[in-house]
Amino acid sequence: MPSTIPVAPDRLPQLLRRMPKAELHIHIEGSLEPELIFELAGRNGVTVPYADVDALRRAYDFTDLQSFLDIYYAGASVLRQEQDFFDMAWAYLQRAAADNVVHAEIFFDPQTHTSRGVAMETVINGLHRACTQAGPALGVSASLILCFLRHLSEQDAFETLEQALPLRDRFIGVGLDSSELGHPPEKFERVFARCGELGLHRVAHAGEEGPPAYVWTALDLLKVERIDHGVQSSKDAALMARLARDRIALTVCPLSNLKLRVFPRLADHNIGQLLDAGLAATVNSDDPAYFGGYLNDNFIQTFEATGLTAAHAYQLAKNSFDASFIHDAMKRRYADLLDATFAQFELR
Ligand code: HPA
Ligand code: ZN
Repeated sequence: MPSTIPVAPDRLPQLLRRMPKAELHIHIEGSLEPELIFELAGRNGVTVPYADVDALRRAYDFTDLQSFLDIYYAGASVLRQEQDFFDMAWAYLQRAAADNVVHAEIFFDPQTHTSRGVAMETVINGLHRACTQAGPALGVSASLILCFLRHLSEQDAFETLEQALPLRDRFIGVGLDSSELGHPPEKFERVFARCGELGLHRVAHAGEEGPPAYVWTALDLLKVERIDHGVQSSKDAALMARLARDRIALTVCPLSNLKLRVFPRLADHNIGQLLDAGLAATVNSDDPAYFGGYLNDNFIQTFEATGLTAAHAYQLAKNSFDASFIHDAMKRRYADLLDATFAQFELR
């Protein structure tokens, strides 16, 4: 990749919108818009403790990860039936298609639903049906990653895995999310070892609010293939060297980091530093209904605030395909599509 790509600066936002990309860090429950929350609440006879959509949206004012998670789990409580899970995923996939996302690897949090008495099949079948239809109907390939909630016990994670195994062909991997501080990766070492034996891909949130030590243990004990967030890695030079050497991708979520006050301003975000150090960073939306933007909003606002260039845009899109769990022939096809898009924007 050349270090500069000659694109007129005023055309950069359009290039960011148009370029094909993969989204690798999206919690499907975090795509649940207030309008759909109220619609599902009505459908299922659930009471939402806010007067209307605007009042709910006004409550989206977070101080840290936990303040977000409390409202995110409350929002998810309107999901009851298979059709609800389908509708949520379908709404996200339509938005993704509009952003030229051609591939999505989608997190879901089964424990937040099974703990309310919703069956595992209800969750997975609804989400999976949307993923299956997105290919032919929207031109988006999509697969599912089951996340364990790290504030719950190892035993709860093992039981969740057991419940999901009859549907093993409907998800491609496992992740680890929820409250990071005080719940280090090593708490789930044995669960992740079992998932490895089952041939599941492994990823984990680490270094969002937590220290670089959590990124090290996610790599060395959980044996993850990607780190979700990982932005705290820049505090540890040896870790940065390790991530660069092993091409471990970081699924970075700039608007999430802004809204959860990981960085005070978007202009202070370290994504440029990560890329320039040779790390395989990617841009993602995390919980777009809560953080004020889907994937292209993340790209456009971050580039505007930090001064990233067309060469960075190319690298981020290329990294998203390279770090995905699709096969190599598809990666090559998407790389060709990316090259063709950039060729249309280059000044000659
Ligand atoms: N971090 C941890 N857990 C989460 C997040 C996040 O950003 N979003 C949804 N669950
Ligand atoms: Zn996340």
